[in-house]
Amino acid sequence: MKSILITGGAGFIGSNLVRMLAEGSAYNVIVLDALTYAGNLENIQDLVDGSRVRFEHGSINDRGLIDRLLAETSFDAILHLAAESHVDRSIASAAPFIETNVVGTLTLLEAAKHAAVRRFVHVSTDEVYGMLGPTDPAFTEETPLAPNSPYSASKAASDLLVRAFVHTHGMDAVITRCSNNYGPYQFPEKLIPLMTLNAIENRSLPIYGDGLQVRDWLHVEDHCRGIMLAYERGMTGQVYNFGGFGEEKNIVVATSILQHVGKDESLLTYVADRPGHDRRYAINPRKVQQELGWTPEWNFKDGLRTTIDWYRANSAWCQNVRSGEYRSYYQRQYEQRG
Ligand SMILES: NC(=O)c1ccc[n+]([C@@H]2O[C@H](COP(=O)([O-])OP(=O)(O)OC[C@H]3O[C@@H](n4cnc5c(N)ncnc54)[C@H](O)[C@@H]3O)[C@@H](O)[C@H]2O)c1
Repeated sequence: MKSILITGGAGFIGSNLVRMLAEGSAYNVIVLDALTYAGNLENIQDLVDGSRVRFEHGSINDRGLIDRLLAETSFDAILHLAAESHVDRSIASAAPFIETNVVGTLTLLEAAKHAAVRRFVHVSTDEVYGMLGPTDPAFTEETPLAPNSPYSASKAASDLLVRAFVHTHGMDAVITRCSNNYGPYQFPEKLIPLMTLNAIENRSLPIYGDGLQVRDWLHVEDHCRGIMLAYERGMTGQVYNFGGFGEEKNIVVATSILQHVGKDESLLTYVADRPGHDRRYAINPRKVQQELGWTPEWNFKDGLRTTIDWYRANSAWCQNVRSGEYRSYYQRQYEQRG
């Protein structure tokens, strides 16, 4: 059985990917995650307890730890998802984004090269392409990089490092870039879980600026299938864009959530816009449809309803995250191990 190292596997997309692979049981899965505020061991605890997945607590910046992991197991691939991922936090302080997304990715690339890991899958974002006007054609893999936030700049830098390792060192790596993901286990600082939990709790839903920013919503399950196809069938050195055909304005997303939860639009509260807020992202996924045979299975309307229902059905998870209890939960796990 092939072994895969998944970085960031306790985060939103990583934990969905780990769950998908653990259920398929075709791969031996090892997760490396630093458990920052965005990492939540509860997301995968049942899989770790059931020995379906091995969990290693640590940072992608820790070269000694990575060297040990890569020496212990012969990995067919590293699926690299660990990152600082929230644009607002990068505006408040960019340094952690450079440390994790740029220096951390470089550390991982050097260790993977040293250990001759067969394939490196670098999970990136459509935000590296900058922003679109209302009638611009959607991003393709040929769209020039033009990142606008410290977050997207750090992701673009890491993408270029991956590209350079392919070109200079002959490394077998692919880069995936996707639009905004939604689904279960997303940390409620991001739009859909934040709006959903606020609506459930009768709190106001903060809308940046005029709320007319457009995002191309991609269900996390569709994204995880895409990552695996890029790993299994992608050509080395190639970039693959995944989008959900799910373009929608933020204000429409927020009002849809209110309707589904049965709450009034008076909860909408307009707040000062995010500095440098990109107006529109959209992905043209023609390349992955043609070359990888991928197409999104979820439409945004159904996916959004199902996602809202997941947050309603998992109130204990939501409560632990909202209260901060999830952090003491995993700290206890490590304290018990000494
Ligand atoms: N969520 C989206 O909509 C979206 C869209 C496009 C691209 N992406 C990319 O997908 C990847 C995963 O995103 P996400 O939304 O799951 O992020 P997330 O913030 O939910 O999870 C990130 C995970 O990485 C871990 N991590 C952070 N720093 C680390 C370090 N130094 N060492 C090891 N682990 C560390 C965190 O503990 C957390 O578990 C990121 O690379 C992100 O840039 C996300």
